[in-house]
Amino acid sequence: MTKITYIEHDGTEHVVDVKNGLSVMEGAIKNNIPGIDADCGGACACATCHVYVDAAWEDKTGDKSAMEESMLDFAENVEPNSRLSCQIKVSDALDGLVVRMPESQH
Ligand code: FES
Repeated sequence: MTKITYIEHDGTEHVVDVKNGLSVMEGAIKNNIPGIDADCGGACACATCHVYVDAAWEDKTGDKSAMEESMLDFAENVEPNSRLSCQIKVSDALDGLVVRMPESQH
């Protein structure tokens, strides 16, 4: 289990334990955390699982694939630390990860 903090746009924090092997998106959905829609179910085809990775974790979450980069073009208010949370796999290395949700996924 890996501890992840999801912070809604209004500042509401949700600290949950997510099973390794799931994606950061799945961790949010399974714990009923609002702010991540994940319309495509994790296929990197909707960009409604957009999150901002906390600066301290950008290196550990790895690089975006070309497909993720191009899907992020469909997200709003994209920043350098924007990621699609379905493309970040949870592992022990991410214990303590902090992600923030955008104001809207559409
Ligand atoms: Fe659709 Fe991540 S859930 S791109």
